[in-house]
Amino acid sequence: MLKDFFMGLSQNQFLNSTAKKYGLKMGAQSVVAGTNIEEAIKSIKELNAHGISCTVDNLGEFVFKKEEATAAKEQILEVIEAIHKNNVDAHISLKPTQLGLDIDYYFCLENLREIVDKANTYDIFVNFDMEDYGHLKPSFDLLDELSMEYNNVGTVIQAYFFEAGENLEKYKNYRLRIVKGAYKEPEQYAYQDKKDIDKNFIKLIEWHLLNGKFTSIATHDHRIINHVKDFVKKNDIPKDKFEFQMLYGFRKDLQLKLANEGYNFCTYVPFGNDWYGYFMRRLAERPQNLNLVAKQVFNK
Ligand code: FDA
Repeated sequence: MLKDFFMGLSQNQFLNSTAKKYGLKMGAQSVVAGTNIEEAIKSIKELNAHGISCTVDNLGEFVFKKEEATAAKEQILEVIEAIHKNNVDAHISLKPTQLGLDIDYYFCLENLREIVDKANTYDIFVNFDMEDYGHLKPSFDLLDELSMEYNNVGTVIQAYFFEAGENLEKYKNYRLRIVKGAYKEPEQYAYQDKKDIDKNFIKLIEWHLLNGKFTSIATHDHRIINHVKDFVKKNDIPKDKFEFQMLYGFRKDLQLKLANEGYNFCTYVPFGNDWYGYFMRRLAERPQNLNLVAKQVFNK
């Protein structure tokens, strides 16, 4: 019930555009690393100091105007410049719809090409985050086109999709982030039961660890993390073949613990004014995250 409620709110375009005007509110400041590049770079430096690398997401979605997509592209180019200039350990995560996928495929492709090209000159990796099922195929198509020219690109495999295994095999030579999946998807395309999703998630992670290039295991689920730790040990998988990833602000103690244990660890650092949809999806995933909101509201 609560999941559906917050998922509905995440897709409300009126609330999304209203939220942009008011800065970080409703507890979002604990899971969003500021509204501008300077604040994001400061957070990245702090995480780097603990041996944690970062993937930076200049938040944005619901982009239906070319000017907005162009502005998003310019901002991401600035982030790439800032990563290089500050010499921080970070790469880029972006959403194709933010760069105009819902407006025109080729317009989006050109925006992405500019970003990937600039990142490539600085040897910075660019991850295409995966969104809902309707954007899955065109997002893979964009990746296919750009990977003919560049090798600093990769993407995400969402374990709730029935076709996830097939996509994993097809993209095994890419650096891949494997996740459970964050959107509400129809029954004909995706597992609905948490147990089925977890089972497929583990299966995909194990397969890519054994057969793939580099695996980012993105989860806050300690049971899955412990399973992976045992699996890599049993199968002699070297630590430079994988990393754990978590979102900024979540399970900070566990993030530090894993980094201190010598595992590669990468924190997903979202920043910017367009925080609303991201924040609502986090509440939909785990309504207990409302605790974060309560703390922010009462600890003023
Ligand atoms: P899940 O929410 O299933 O929780 C499982 C268990 O873990 C809980 O029962 C609890 O015991 C423990 N737990 C979880 N969160 C906790 C917390 N905050 N504190 C204490 N215990 C906690 N999705 C997508 O569709 N496309 C994408 O591109 C991405 N990208 C992405 C990047 C990164 C770095 C992450 C971490 C996640 C994504 N996701 C994503 C989101 C992903 O698909 C998924 O929705 C969330 O990670 C939630 O699932 P989890 O596996 O984290 O645990």
